[in-house]
Amino acid sequence: MLEKLEQLGQEALTALNGLSDSKALESWHIQYVGRKGLVTEMLRRVGELSKEERPIFGKRANEIKSELELAYQARETTIKVLEMEQSFAEGAIDVTLPGRPVRRGRLHPISQTMRRIYQIWAEMGFQVYRARDVETDEYNFQLLNFPPYHPAREMQDSFYVDDRSAPNEEMVVLRTHTSPGQIRAMRDYCPQPIRVILPGMCYRAEQVTARREVQFTQVEGLAVGPGIRMTDLKGTLTSFAQRMFGEGRPTRFRASYFPFTEPSAEMDVQCIICNGQGCRTCGYSGWLEILGCGMVHPIVLRNGGYDPEKFTGFAFGMGPERISMLKHGIEDIRYFWANDLRFLEQF
Ligand code: PHE
Repeated sequence: MLEKLEQLGQEALTALNGLSDSKALESWHIQYVGRKGLVTEMLRRVGELSKEERPIFGKRANEIKSELELAYQARETTIKVLEMEQSFAEGAIDVTLPGRPVRRGRLHPISQTMRRIYQIWAEMGFQVYRARDVETDEYNFQLLNFPPYHPAREMQDSFYVDDRSAPNEEMVVLRTHTSPGQIRAMRDYCPQPIRVILPGMCYRAEQVTARREVQFTQVEGLAVGPGIRMTDLKGTLTSFAQRMFGEGRPTRFRASYFPFTEPSAEMDVQCIICNGQGCRTCGYSGWLEILGCGMVHPIVLRNGGYDPEKFTGFAFGMGPERISMLKHGIEDIRYFWANDLRFLEQF
């Protein structure tokens, strides 16, 4: 039997060296050294031998098996190389072709500005609070102290979603600003103190021009707590502007009017294009308005569930388009939503 085994080993080796493709190689492996292969089978028959012969046969059989495995691996490598060379020769893979460039996506410039804004407010302890794009007239105006027929509504021409037959406060409107989110956040948090920003898209029925769009983003901010004062508002917003536009950039507050804040103000930063010298972008004033703000009106606090005798707060609303335009010297707001790659690829 030992002789037969040696013979089988020889035969297997010769067969192996004649192989030239991986398919044949595989069936060779099954035929000789696989679980049901000829060599394996022989090893199993060791029991038929006498006690003395068994160890000699067993040892030799194992040797032959591992020899064959080694030879198999060597042959496999050779065949792989051969096959690769062959496929190169046939031109299946032209290694001289330049690689296909991978097109890299990027964030929209407004998303980039938004993320920077979130980051700065996060450092100051403000969480992002998401409110809805579609609001009722009640939240968008009435609870914010815009009475029906108040002329301030005309500051923000609205897209009404339904047919105006609904009662006034149920009328559905695309939010004209992110301020209705103030009421939602207050009703959600009351009676806890609040520090949130409310980012999102706003919609106004505007004549589209280089400075006005029918849709744009805003980031609202709201802080409510016991003893919050106007100085907190000024300090916090000044700190925001320094981080957003650079340390040392001058800012100023101008008195203004919003129905939902009292007192109200607007904040300007020194024009970053001309450094206050006066240019086209800043209308030769040297200043650029970046946000509206004020102390939350007592009526609004009450509508949100807070007792205005115990709680005060400040709020602000800024426009990321405006801020991006200032930062990058972009002259026309319409670029942002025009989806022109020549514009978008610059950011
Ligand atoms: N909602 C105002 C606007 O859209 C901005 C604002 C927000 C003003 C919060 C004061 C406080 O113009």
